Amino acid sequence: MRVITYGTFDLFHEGHRRLLERARALGDHLIVGVTTQQYDDSRGKLNVRQSLMERIRNVEATGLVDEVIVEEYEGQKINDIQRLGIDIFAIGSDWTGKFDYLRDYCTVVYLERTKGVSSTQLRNESQATLNLGVVGAGRIARRLVQEARFVSGVDVDAVYSRTPENARRFAAELELQTVHERYEDLLATCDAVYIASPHGHHYEQACTAIEAGRHVLCEKPIALTRAEAEDLFGRARSAGVVLLEALKTAFLPGFQRMVGVARSGSIGDIRAVEATFTKLVGGGRELDPPDGGSIAELASYPLLAVLKLLGPDPVRLATRSVRAGGVDVFSRIDLDYPHAIASATTGLGVKAEGDLVVAGTRGYVYVPAPWWLTEYFETRFEDTGRNRKFYYKLDGDGLRYEVAEFASLIRDGNTESYRLRAEESIAIAGLIERARANAQWFAEGPSDQ
Ligand code: CTP
Repeated sequence: MRVITYGTFDLFHEGHRRLLERARALGDHLIVGVTTQQYDDSRGKLNVRQSLMERIRNVEATGLVDEVIVEEYEGQKINDIQRLGIDIFAIGSDWTGKFDYLRDYCTVVYLERTKGVSSTQLRNESQATLNLGVVGAGRIARRLVQEARFVSGVDVDAVYSRTPENARRFAAELELQTVHERYEDLLATCDAVYIASPHGHHYEQACTAIEAGRHVLCEKPIALTRAEAEDLFGRARSAGVVLLEALKTAFLPGFQRMVGVARSGSIGDIRAVEATFTKLVGGGRELDPPDGGSIAELASYPLLAVLKLLGPDPVRLATRSVRAGGVDVFSRIDLDYPHAIASATTGLGVKAEGDLVVAGTRGYVYVPAPWWLTEYFETRFEDTGRNRKFYYKLDGDGLRYEVAEFASLIRDGNTESYRLRAEESIAIAGLIERARANAQWFAEGPSDQ
């Protein structure tokens, strides 16, 4: 009898060993499917500690296994069972009922789960919980608090806002225990802060937090000038703390994959990038001068795509904007590179198609709206028979990936994320600064008239 079982097998433990022993005893040939990190990411299991190779080695080291395969995608089990001539599918009782659909292909056995041990528990025990304090009580902060609850090892329990009344309402709504009326008090009780205040306060609040030795996750744009961003990263480096810009797209598996595919030569040399991000708002601080406007609010996203695909140093930058109420409400930033051109288009209170196109000498990448929550993209060619589609399921609204990245940098003692390097955040701040300073206002909106 040929038996198969699947799992992540992170931080291999007694529960895993006993499961394998009993699965082995069901037949005479045991195959184990170990999940890839990408598959785990795509199903929202973000905190796996060990690499695929380490996890496979641990499974093999039990001596209970005849064969190891890799589980890469949803629906693979049906294919494996048929391909490998499996008689019995075995899995722990935490999955009872979930795999009954496999009964059409083989016998399904649910084995009693070993009590009192799990990878999740071991991960939690092996790390101190990160106390993340929230600075600001707006919409994005609310979403982040909700998403952070899906990341193990992160505890959000305190908030500070310059308007204590807002902080109190925020804490009540999200069931946070502590409201601080002074920023210093929040810093004194947290390991790290998430800064989601208006843009103009980021620099000063991040400086204070770094000075207090706290790690900082700061909403985008981290600063509105290159000098401030440079200064902040310099301070974080000297203080030995993590400073990460909360630019969620950078941390999404689908976006990273898209950049990899586009830069791998599959569409030839990249000649153009066009990225658009617009949002409808009915007023509010996003539109308030001097720091509001579509560039300050939204350009981080398209500029991230341009930088990841073409590099941080365009040779020329020109911006045209439509303005209303003293801020830009629709802007196009044109960036020239030695062998490519790019445009980053933003709109606040203006809606346009939010897609991303990367044109190459052999084909192009198309990411439909909303490209910044990259769940799907295509590579397209003149010969449409060569087109390919790529899918990456996203859990939540993307924010949990940036929280998971921030927490893992701190835990692993890294100060920089390769997914969003300091140099890239600094370059984005510099481009936003230049775009806002040099924009050509070629029209005025109705509210200025
Ligand atoms: N398993 C078990 N007893 C445990 C833990 C896991 O029998 N105490 C089984 C699971 O039911 C599954 C296999 O071991 O069949 C692999 O599980 P995996 O998800 O890798 O391990 P968990 O410890 O459950 O991981 P996590 O906490 O991340 O969900």
